[in-house]
Amino acid sequence: MNPVHADFFAGGAGEERTVRGNLAAFDRLRIVPRVLRATGDRDLRTTLFGTELATPILVAPTAFHLLAHPGGEAATAQGAAAAGTVMVVSMAATQPVEIIAAAGGPLWFQLYPQPDPAFTAAVVKRAESAGCRALVVTVDSPVLGHRARDVRNGFTDLPAGLACENMRDDTGRVRPVAMDATLGWDRIAWLRSVTGLPIVLKGVLHPADARLAVEHGVDGLIVSNHGGRQLDGAIATIDALPAVAEAVANRIPVLVDGGIRRGTDALIALARGATAVLLGRPVLDALAAGGATAVHEKLRTLTADLDRAMALAGARRPSDLTPDLVTVTG
Ligand code: FNR
Repeated sequence: MNPVHADFFAGGAGEERTVRGNLAAFDRLRIVPRVLRATGDRDLRTTLFGTELATPILVAPTAFHLLAHPGGEAATAQGAAAAGTVMVVSMAATQPVEIIAAAGGPLWFQLYPQPDPAFTAAVVKRAESAGCRALVVTVDSPVLGHRARDVRNGFTDLPAGLACENMRDDTGRVRPVAMDATLGWDRIAWLRSVTGLPIVLKGVLHPADARLAVEHGVDGLIVSNHGGRQLDGAIATIDALPAVAEAVANRIPVLVDGGIRRGTDALIALARGATAVLLGRPVLDALAAGGATAVHEKLRTLTADLDRAMALAGARRPSDLTPDLVTVTG
């Protein structure tokens, strides 16, 4: 891969403390397994918003897949579909959502609400028409994080010939993906009026926001710090998860992403209160290495790793994983 693009995928904000922190937090957590639990009939199937998935491991929304592989987002969708899981399509995808949907599914669509409400509503309708089954609203990005590697590399735009295809308006012009610092809870209520899709807020870390989300009728949460790409110094997601899960108290599903690299990481996240986890960079790395086949292989091996870890920890289903199975060391 072009090293400038590799830096875009791997990098984060500021000193990249949160990028590293997401990974380091798992090093301080240990599993306290149960024994003699007769775990022979394990079942990892997970239902989210009416869709049954083969695994609780999903694909997080990430931008610009055509920079990683000529198959682009469609290849990722194909790999996710083969693994029986959801791909969340980024608003900054480099292929149209209709093409991605034709390659695989189930899909959810990630939205940065745009300052122009008519355009935002049109994008939502387009995602709905393409068959996306949930709307993931990213709320951790009122402004863009300071990505030092991209600044150093002068990476500001996609190369000629590539564009954020889902930002095309009815005149055929591709609008820039705007970050909107005027975003507030009123816009979530407005989004509810323009779509019947489940609304999932991505980027919640504080339990008070989790409570507000439930009060505003949000359908799900993703505990996320954007893979350390927005607020450097933000809490590691696996550390934020327990308080968010407690605040939500099972009223809506809580998902988590950030630093999940092994089945045992997924196990810890599920035990700490997540219904499912999402992978960002591991999927991008697989896509770059081998397209749809490698994305499928990555999701399959992580699911197998989770399945093995569940057997070893005495769990038959994700719902058997409870907070007492995880302890903090060091
Ligand atoms: C992202 N992420 C992201 N999130 C989002 O809501 N919209 C987006 O367009 C993107 N784009 C994006 C690009 C790249 C290159 C990365 C690495 C990440 C964040 C993503 O959904 C997720 O929160 C993190 O990637 C999870 O952390 P890990 O799995 O990468 O550690």
